[in-house]
Amino acid sequence: MVNESEIARLARDIRKASRIVALSGAGMSVESGIASFRGPGGLWEKYDPEEYGHINTLRYEPAKAWIMLSDMQREILKAKPNKGHYALAELERMGKLRAIITQNVDGLHHVAGNRDVIEFHGHLQSVSCMDCGHRVPSADIDLDKLPPRCSKCSGPVKPDAVFFGEAIPSDALMRSHREASTCDLMLVIGTSAMVYPAASMPDIAHDAGARVVEINPSETPLTGRISAYIVKGPAGDVLERVVQQLKSLPA
Ligand code: OAD
Repeated sequence: MVNESEIARLARDIRKASRIVALSGAGMSVESGIASFRGPGGLWEKYDPEEYGHINTLRYEPAKAWIMLSDMQREILKAKPNKGHYALAELERMGKLRAIITQNVDGLHHVAGNRDVIEFHGHLQSVSCMDCGHRVPSADIDLDKLPPRCSKCSGPVKPDAVFFGEAIPSDALMRSHREASTCDLMLVIGTSAMVYPAASMPDIAHDAGARVVEINPSETPLTGRISAYIVKGPAGDVLERVVQQLKSLPA
């Protein structure tokens, strides 16, 4: 059960804040049916990330890398935003949420209606040829015929997501840094905060004077270190109730 007083506390903090940024991770999409990476039934239980998720595997052993990628694609293609995604879109419409920095590649924040979303690890909506750069929507790929090849030059194709061994796109890194260092409240939602540099965003916010609040059923390395408190529970439930509370607060 989610603690009612924690919900009320977060609603009050949101009311007081003028520049809120969210950092989301895989836990955000668990209620959409996408297992988190490190949780039960998660991808990293089945596949070694440094091996299957490494850029060199994709280039030199594409058939192997695409076993994992097709699993991911299939799961993501059928997923829909959950009430947590919609609550964040509502917060943006209310003028409370400035931006979302997401580590997720499922595109669900966009589908839910958020406009300012920084996709820190890219996305799986399209793939590009690693040789000629030709880009096509992921929906055009036949997941029953792997590994996919570029329709123009037959080169190996790569989802427009960040792989292990690759740098974060500089635009995403710079914009995230700017949002983190200028917010006054950072909501850290559904991330184990273990993968850098994304996991450094709460530190950047905290060091610049922002309040950091986590929404997660489990504690993370941020808990008790830099987060002011953690609202323990599933993101969808918590966010929906926080937005309801926020709307009921006197003007
Ligand atoms: P993880 O799988 O590491 O962590 C998921 C977090 O979500 C955990 O802290 C869970 O406790 C929490 N969680 C589970 N269910 C939840 C729910 N219903 N509501 C809220 N939280 C819940 O996923 P990330 O932190 O996103 O990188 O992983 C970071 C990066 O590691 C990913 O972007 C990916 C992966 O390797 C790349 O692929 C480059």
